[in-house]
Amino acid sequence: MEPQNIFKKKFFIETYGCQMNFSDSEIVASILTENSYQSTDNYKDADFIFINTCSIRDNAEQRVRNRLQEYKSQKKRNPTVKIGVLGCMAERLKEKLLEEENFIDLIIGPDAYRDLPLLIADLEPGQKGINVLLSNEETYSDINPVRLNSNGINAFISIMRGCENFCTYCVVPFTRGKERSRNPESIINEAKDLFEKGFREVTLLGQNVNSYAWNEGETIFNFSILIEKIAQIDPKLRVRYATSHPKDMSDELLHIIAKYNNLCKTIHLPVQSGSSNILKKMNRKYTREDYLNRIKSIRNILPNCAISTDIISGFCGETEEDHQETISLMKEVGFDYAFMFKYSERPDTLAAKKYPDDIPEEIKNKRLQEIIDLQQELSHQSNLKDLNKTTEVLVEGFSKRSKEHLTGRNSQNKVVIFPKENFQIGEYAIVLIKECSSATLKGITSH
Ligand code: 5AD
Ligand code: SF4
Repeated sequence: MEPQNIFKKKFFIETYGCQMNFSDSEIVASILTENSYQSTDNYKDADFIFINTCSIRDNAEQRVRNRLQEYKSQKKRNPTVKIGVLGCMAERLKEKLLEEENFIDLIIGPDAYRDLPLLIADLEPGQKGINVLLSNEETYSDINPVRLNSNGINAFISIMRGCENFCTYCVVPFTRGKERSRNPESIINEAKDLFEKGFREVTLLGQNVNSYAWNEGETIFNFSILIEKIAQIDPKLRVRYATSHPKDMSDELLHIIAKYNNLCKTIHLPVQSGSSNILKKMNRKYTREDYLNRIKSIRNILPNCAISTDIISGFCGETEEDHQETISLMKEVGFDYAFMFKYSERPDTLAAKKYPDDIPEEIKNKRLQEIIDLQQELSHQSNLKDLNKTTEVLVEGFSKRSKEHLTGRNSQNKVVIFPKENFQIGEYAIVLIKECSSATLKGITSH
């Protein structure tokens, strides 16, 4: 952090939700520091408290509301403090949030962060500020993010914004607006700059990176071209990305990933359900067979690639047979990792308008538990396959349990713990795996 300057007002940002939101908070921090504000990591010292929010499920919003109560108490202790809500909840609820939580001073949607300095400078006592305009162009491409809570090794780079897939369950197209891609030159420069500063892994972020597109005269820059350019910056810079949509993940991209050792062999490919009926109601635009075909391509072109997914259980009208299709698909693919959720109806989405949320809570819970139990077993099986093999690990820090051990991840995004010896953070270590649980691998370095 910068040296403290007693004349500068301080801001604190807390982030909920996805990686994209963490990346947005870094953009906000950059806009504010460029405008003579200073960041603090203790909200009790802050003149402005910002909370960057998520609306994806009701429980994500409830977590934010609980946290806001803590900030309300802080405002009682120090009435000059201003509280701002950023991100998806700001966009979804707009003025309504100011009515419901009247201690909030500012509401700023994801495309309006450039307006923050003006909004906060103009805030008179008792007044509120709001900007929730969505944009068709904003990509914050010229903003050099301030890296928050950084380990100096891993960084996010936002390559596009918005989403137009309109999966029926999802609030994101409404909170983040139209899909737009960021200028590739600014992305490549950001990645180069990070590498020069010592970062060794970048994660390229977008709701659907496979539809990245930038027209430069006659030529179209697609995601495969972009990721190849970033891979070529330096073999020691690892590249990850999130998230792919199964409907448009191309073999061209898989071949590029195969070509470069520093393009990580991990693909996050959210399936959501194993039943074609449910996928249709979700408007996912692929069937179970289409999805399994994509998996076949991954296995053919990238035999050592880890595959992770997102699964929603208990979507509208989901029968026991539909659920069993999800279970059988999980077994057939053998996912290495999964994020698993219970369907949460979001107001104003297409599903909320069209289909009743008719699966009883106990059944949603029971199906979700079955999915979680199966995934734990699959993750364990996946890790067992790594025993007695060597793997390349990017060292990211000390193990939580012991200062004598380091932790990092391999190309397949698995967490690996091994003895420190002479390794430094940011270096690559070759580790021979000797033990595993469903969550981590443990090993020794080979010389
Ligand atoms: N209910 C439950 N899970 C959801 N997701 C998105 N919307 C909902 C919802 N309404 C999940 C999807 C998505 C991940 C980011 O969150 O699985 O891929
Ligand atoms: Fe991210 Fe979606 Fe949550 Fe918005 S609603 S923060 S886009 S996960």
